[in-house]
Amino acid sequence: MRDAAWDAFVTRVRDASDILRVVSSYVPLKRKGSRYWACCPFHNEKTPSFSVTPDKGGLFYCFGCHAGGDIFKFISLIENVTYGEAIKLQAEKLGIPLPDERRSSAELARDQKIADMRKVMGMARDFFHSCLVNTPYGKPGLEYFAGRGIGKDIIDDFSLGFAPDSFDKLRNAFLKRGVPEKLLLECGLVKQRKSGAGTYDTFRGRVMIPIADERGRFVGFGGRVMDDSVPKYLNSPETMIFNKRKLLFGLDRAKKAIRDEGYVILVEGYMDAISVASAGVRNVVASLGTSFTIEHARLIMRYAPEIYFCYDSDEAGQKATIRALSIIRATGAKVKVLIVPDGKDPDEFIRKHGVDAFRELAKRALPVADYQIKYALAHNDIRTMDGKSNALHAIVPVLAAAQTVERMELVQELKRTLAIDEGIITQEISRYKGEPAENIQQGAPMRQAVRRIDDAVMRAGRVVVRQAWEDTGTLADIEARVPLDDFPVALHGEILKYLAKCERDGVPISESGAFEALSEDAASELSRILSETFAGGTAADLYDECAQKIYISYLKIRLEGHRIKADELQRAGEDFIGELEESNKIQKKINELERNEQQ
Ligand code: GTP
Ligand code: MN
Repeated sequence: MRDAAWDAFVTRVRDASDILRVVSSYVPLKRKGSRYWACCPFHNEKTPSFSVTPDKGGLFYCFGCHAGGDIFKFISLIENVTYGEAIKLQAEKLGIPLPDERRSSAELARDQKIADMRKVMGMARDFFHSCLVNTPYGKPGLEYFAGRGIGKDIIDDFSLGFAPDSFDKLRNAFLKRGVPEKLLLECGLVKQRKSGAGTYDTFRGRVMIPIADERGRFVGFGGRVMDDSVPKYLNSPETMIFNKRKLLFGLDRAKKAIRDEGYVILVEGYMDAISVASAGVRNVVASLGTSFTIEHARLIMRYAPEIYFCYDSDEAGQKATIRALSIIRATGAKVKVLIVPDGKDPDEFIRKHGVDAFRELAKRALPVADYQIKYALAHNDIRTMDGKSNALHAIVPVLAAAQTVERMELVQELKRTLAIDEGIITQEISRYKGEPAENIQQGAPMRQAVRRIDDAVMRAGRVVVRQAWEDTGTLADIEARVPLDDFPVALHGEILKYLAKCERDGVPISESGAFEALSEDAASELSRILSETFAGGTAADLYDECAQKIYISYLKIRLEGHRIKADELQRAGEDFIGELEESNKIQKKINELERNEQQ
């Protein structure tokens, strides 16, 4: 990808671009000294901490959320595209042609392929819709929709459709119209027969919900069975144009309402989104049966700073909500949780109680901190010490993220509910935020329940993880010092093990992939690590020193283990010399390393 022509092209686009003009087309800028300021478009704030420096080719940085970079980085963040795509978008705006080789190469073929796929998907939507409304095959589909209170208006509005219960209706119709079989395969509309030659229709005997991308281009389908058979929903496979992690059902039609209302309601199911929107609450979108991703959050934040999560209120829905919330914490979006009572989903609720009752629920949506606290308290037995400790640990990240005044109120509330000392709560918040040790009181009763980690080790761990994230080549060096299973900070160990696994499996590393795979705690620790600017240099600068610190900490934990063992053996009157020798060896190693560290 990197060649001289491309580099020259990038330079040309950069030189022709004016970062002030680009940024101010999204947010109004005010000059102060040599910098320009605005309220950050990437997180929600009332006083400007987002700055633009026009010299040095133009840079931006937000002192609040730490987003920063050059003009193309800005475009990539705000338009939710890759860095490379941002360069091309800007070039297009300025009328600068792509370098020749690029246009004539594989990329041109790729663009053509995508255009063809979009066209075929549009044809498929028309085909399914026509099967539903114009043919006798569609009768069961119409009956099914009618049974769910979905009439002609909504069917037309959402271009709902029906896939006939046949293995070749779509296939034959499309082949006849000259669509190549290969293209049908690439669109996921047909599948290859296992037995060899030929293909068959992917969607059969299902009502069809077409899914558009943000710009209203049809890219996939969700197909629902009409009875209780499984799978209930069959979605289009991932294709070049259908990426569930980046798509939100209904966004194309909800955009304007989201801007007007200032928030989006995010539901779990297509049917929920259809039901809510049809009832007149138009700022609604649905995720496509996958968990919520950072990409989803960024997509939404281009239209509004606030997201109302409206997942099912069953146990799975609550869990998914908590998970989504920990992912979103990194993005700075404002979040509320809209709780639909009695285990109903929004679709059922609206049908039973009407849309005004649903609007009431939206008005009473809980701020995220309140919701998470409620959840943690409901899921732990807070009469026990362990339960209190677990609840507190689940809540601390929420408290740490809250604004000061809100935090003070929440701490008071928690102090009463958990019946624990305020000092313990504030201490845990400080620890979570990695603040210096003097803020932390010693000897609190919660002590046993918490794994004590030296602040310096915590910080060193963060640097090491960040460096491994940026360059997975580092992993070998880390593992040579400390087995990842025994990493001093277990959360860091979890993240590193995940990276090592990706490396082994050849899976590219992405924020969204990591957030999906990691536990909630590790996910929020990772988002913290990725947005951190380390005092004293970059992760690469600090890596050696920090890896060494982690190594020493690991040795100290082992040392402690051998000492305890030796102690036990001695007390039991058994041979403890082996353990003692081992601990002496480790102690010597530690001394040596610490001497080197000081030099
Ligand atoms: P209805 O029963 O039609 O009302 O479904 P729902 O919209 O209430 O969906 P549910 O809460 O069961 O699931 C929410 C979303 O998860 C759906 O809209 C789908 O996107 C996805 N989903 C549900 N079941 C399946 C399944 O079996 N396979 C796949 N791939 N996705 C599913
Ligand atoms: Mn439902």
